[in-house]
Amino acid sequence: MTFKDPLDAAAGGITADGSLEGGAEREVGHLPVMAGEVVEILAPRPGSLQIDATLGGAGHAERILEASAPDGRLLGLDADGAAIARSARRLARFGDRVVLRQTNFGQLAEVAPEAGFRQVDGLFLDLGLSSYQLVDVERGFGFRAGGRLDMRFDTGRGRPAADLLATMEAGELAALFRRYGEEPFAGRIARTIVESRSHTPVVTAEQLAALVERAVPTSKGRRIHPATRVFQALRIAVNDELTNLEAGLAASLVLLRPGGRLVVLSYHSLEDRIVKRFMAAEQRGCICPPEVPICVCGRLPRLRLLGKSRPPSVEEISANPRCRSARLRAAERVAA
Ligand SMILES: C[S@@+](CC[C@H](N)C(=O)[O-])C[C@H]1O[C@@H](n2cnc3c(N)ncnc32)[C@H](O)[C@@H]1O
Repeated sequence: MTFKDPLDAAAGGITADGSLEGGAEREVGHLPVMAGEVVEILAPRPGSLQIDATLGGAGHAERILEASAPDGRLLGLDADGAAIARSARRLARFGDRVVLRQTNFGQLAEVAPEAGFRQVDGLFLDLGLSSYQLVDVERGFGFRAGGRLDMRFDTGRGRPAADLLATMEAGELAALFRRYGEEPFAGRIARTIVESRSHTPVVTAEQLAALVERAVPTSKGRRIHPATRVFQALRIAVNDELTNLEAGLAASLVLLRPGGRLVVLSYHSLEDRIVKRFMAAEQRGCICPPEVPICVCGRLPRLRLLGKSRPPSVEEISANPRCRSARLRAAERVAA
């Protein structure tokens, strides 16, 4: 599937002038996307074990805990320490039904058993970044952020985006913008950055957005800011998002009990493609080439798809335009 506007949520729903959609700058908080559908599919029962691997503002986690009262338990992860602190406050009323860990969901296969979540009933991934991160100027996720271009979910690990912009060769930057942003003017943008940094380091989101605007031809009626693809590409590279997504999906096969459910919300076609291919391959099982008359690989299906991918309802999009690129995919673990 290709999204109609594949990158419009890449930088978290930023409009062509760089402001947040849906009045999100005025309203502090993050509206959980497709929360009704997510809870309906996970169907968390009392006594069940659930994992929310992307807590953010804990909106979904709260709904899952309410639905699994009085004794369902939830392991909540986020790479961002601020999200963990916020979630701890929001979920405090659930007491020891909640276990929180600041960790990357790429580590899920190790972290969940250590936290006592070995065979779980549900695993939820809501990819990308939250409104809290987007509006925090110190994080450098939004175009108008005045602070340093950081873009790390976990500010204690890895290299900030400004470091990549300061050190990568023009060819490497262009490849990055193409690979993770599908940016048609990748080469021109990379050369503009390298030329500019020879006299002024590119350290703020505003600077980067202005350089991209200078490098790409103006086009009438564009719906997204010209720097959207570049911001998406940098964020994906800084957080190694696609590798971690593959690891998180693979962990679901180990952690979900038969009948347990995996629900994933993605916001751009690069991540949705990974989710789609993973679920399709695990539903198929056998990986023998078509010319082999009988199966020799012996692989059995490990997932059953729960319907096709679905977008938010028209009503939800009009109430929360930032969710318009969301796609939900869900599958159930089957006994292999
Ligand atoms: C879209 S928000 C989740 C919003 C949340 N569902 C809610 O209701 O508020 C995504 C969150 O996932 C976190 N995140 C993204 N990639 C991650 C990863 N690989 N490991 C752990 N957390 C990640 C981000 O830091 C962010 O807080």
